[in-house]
Amino acid sequence: MRTGSMRVADISVSAIRKNVRRVSDLTGGGNVIVVVKACGYGHDAAIAASAAMAGGATMIATADLEEALQLRERGIDAPLLCWLHGPRVDFVPAIEQSIDIGVAHLRQLEALAGAARATGRPATLQFKIDTGLSRNGAAREEWDELFRRGAELEREGLVHVRGIFSHLANAGEEADLAQGAKFDEAVALLRAAGCEPAMIHLAASAATFTRPELYYNTVRVGVAAFGLSPFVEKNSAQLGLTPAMTLRSEVVALRGVPAGTGVSYGFNHVCEVATTLALVPVGYADGMPRALNGSGAWVTIADERCPIVGRIGMDQFIVDVGPIAGRIDLGAPVVLFGDPERGYPSIDNWARLMRTINYEILVGIGPRVLRRAVDETAVAEAESATGETAAGEVAAGEVAVGETAAGVATASGVTGGDAAIGAGPTGEVGA
Ligand SMILES: Cc1ncc(COP(=O)(O)O)c(C=O)c1O
Repeated sequence: MRTGSMRVADISVSAIRKNVRRVSDLTGGGNVIVVVKACGYGHDAAIAASAAMAGGATMIATADLEEALQLRERGIDAPLLCWLHGPRVDFVPAIEQSIDIGVAHLRQLEALAGAARATGRPATLQFKIDTGLSRNGAAREEWDELFRRGAELEREGLVHVRGIFSHLANAGEEADLAQGAKFDEAVALLRAAGCEPAMIHLAASAATFTRPELYYNTVRVGVAAFGLSPFVEKNSAQLGLTPAMTLRSEVVALRGVPAGTGVSYGFNHVCEVATTLALVPVGYADGMPRALNGSGAWVTIADERCPIVGRIGMDQFIVDVGPIAGRIDLGAPVVLFGDPERGYPSIDNWARLMRTINYEILVGIGPRVLRRAVDETAVAEAESATGETAAGEVAAGEVAVGETAAGVATASGVTGGDAAIGAGPTGEVGA
């Protein structure tokens, strides 16, 4: 752990590998693109990308070109795709770094062809089309001209059309299938224009679990790779997924208080009985939602559920640890959320309490939180080989971490294998 780090997100690279394999099995071994936009859904994009590739992903995707270029800088040599571009984007680095560009309109296509001319190398693109989401992607009336011009530029050797894709609105079965029919029309038009796309993709996590008829030859998943459910009514375990992130902290202060003590700003919690309050140094600056205040949310300390009390501050919150006060001391590990199958609070519960989705909570985890790669499989193997615990300092019931003997790897050492990487959000190597 980085010296003094009080806030850690353990990222289980073994869970990411397993989740990607689960998606691959489900879809009959077709291509799996894993989306690591927004810092890998908060998990650290490079950690996520290398784990996903080790789990059998075909390609890694981001929204912005900048995110894709950062992956290259951090040693990720996997095939990359990005699809959200401003009008002033410079595609030259994308071509130099062999990054596929999602092209959503004619101006983008011409800008990409211009960059190909400037570099003297063909650009690789995937057409991003809108089939009903009404968001990023070429509208129906743009398809003919876009595909015609794409085919022409391909014949000139300036671009290579690798794929075509669209995104579902997840507005129910009928709407999904209508988008599928529109997508079929686009694929047929692209072929008629003279291009043969090798990658055809529509399904993200939700459709991957519900609409086999929309798999085509590729699916493109984000949240499922991180082990979380895209559905409100189904949890990770029900989908055969394992949450990859465990958000951890520690108790940094303990105080006994009499009945009637007001807690935190505004005293909106008043202790009914004498108790002990523990201070946990994670606040809304770290993605701990302020609105969890008074919601009934809890954390685990010493394997017990302990309620969060009082308003959450920018850097810290308070937990009532009365019933376990005699068993804990400063430094006691706190789990804010993790895999509920291990007894940890679930991020889905936070999302429910916040009336939002797990995605929003994940990507809100702030930059002060150290992302630490954990390879539980490697640690377990090392433990069974030596007959002892590889992670000497890891408390009972805690997972062992990538900085111990078994899980060591560095960002620059990313290979396609089972390496865990320990680079933090600022590029710092945590191992
Ligand atoms: C175009 C596109 N594809 C795939 C995804 C991944 O979605 P999910 O995390 O639901 O799998 C996203 C995420 O919003 C997206 O914008």
